[in-house]
Amino acid sequence: MAPRVILLPGDGIGPEIMQSALEALSALGVELDYEEHLFGGAAIDAHGTALTGETLTACKSADAVLLAAVGGPQWDTTDPDKPRPEQGLLGLRKGLDLFANLRPVKPIPALYDASPLKRELIERTNLIVVRELTGGIYFGAKTRSEDRASDDCVYTRAEIERIARIGFSTASSRVTSVDKANVLETSRLWREVVREIHKREFPNIELEHLLVDNASMKLIAAPRHFEVILTENMFGDILSDEAAMLTGSIGMLPSASLGDQKPGVFEPVHGSAPDIAGTGQANPLAMILSAALMLRHGFRLENEAAAVESAVEQALAEGLRTPDLGGTATTKEATQAVLKYL
Ligand code: NAD
Ligand code: IPM
Ligand code: MN
Repeated sequence: MAPRVILLPGDGIGPEIMQSALEALSALGVELDYEEHLFGGAAIDAHGTALTGETLTACKSADAVLLAAVGGPQWDTTDPDKPRPEQGLLGLRKGLDLFANLRPVKPIPALYDASPLKRELIERTNLIVVRELTGGIYFGAKTRSEDRASDDCVYTRAEIERIARIGFSTASSRVTSVDKANVLETSRLWREVVREIHKREFPNIELEHLLVDNASMKLIAAPRHFEVILTENMFGDILSDEAAMLTGSIGMLPSASLGDQKPGVFEPVHGSAPDIAGTGQANPLAMILSAALMLRHGFRLENEAAAVESAVEQALAEGLRTPDLGGTATTKEATQAVLKYL
């Protein structure tokens, strides 16, 4: 039986770029059984909630989940009692226990000059952000009254241990653990636990600790310094958007959200880009590269994953540029340019 993949196109440019990923998968000839579900704002409009019980159950029994993006101004609200598209994303990550978010940042040579940063700075950068995805300030208790609001930031030893193990096993030489241990208690526990796991289980990997403010500067000043950036949920969110600019655009960055068991969720790092939704201008490459991560991490189809990545590189080498990369190619043209090499 073909592996079952749940498709969550979501909102904004989500459905447009999901189509591109499906065309790339189909060109590869990989047999997959798809089941599509409404998610995010689209699910709020239809069912009053961003993630229905039915969709979560379907995801739990699938072999992988391919997700595009959620959110949009029509669902933006500051009222804590109103549903938000992003709750679907957080509920899915928590519901599937996807504690490890891998965000590889490897600028493609053809795009060295598409980055606002100098070519000599970004050349040969090859880093990965290993972001803790189901803890921290995102998931702590929240309170809100007229004049006061709070978000609890909580981490347990067990949560830090398991993401630290992923970080160290992803590295071949160096892990940079990023925290705010000069201020935050959660960061002080983070640092202690990362040190322990390092000493006990991965003594041959070099470990350094950086404070997050310094790390954000160093990421731009000397990106080649980094191999694995191991960090908590919110710092990882922010640093990965920053790192995206090393590749030229947020439209280039894929991610894999993994737990101890199947299924993983494979999703671009960017959001639903409401400012360009419906214009046909979205860069589909982060979505297509997320499908490649699904082939690699979800199905162990390394050759097929590499084929997709190589097709993307060849299309860019040939001159493919969507507007975010300074060109004029539409989503459809970009997809065709990749398909040519599959
Ligand atoms: P965004 O990532 O959607 O967009 C930021 C900027 O990058 C915009 O100018 C957008 O046009 C551009 N951009 C993003 N993806 C692009 C692509 N593939 N091609 C070309 N340009 C692209 O972030 P935002 O505007 O802050 O958020 C918009 C909505 O998306 C919000 O509701 C937010 O909560 C949501 N969001 C969802 C996810 C997700 O579903 N994983 C991630 C981030 C943000
Ligand atoms: C991301 C997004 C999400 C996050 C939002 C939409 C909840 O920014 O996947 O990076 O903060 O994790
Ligand atoms: Mn983000």
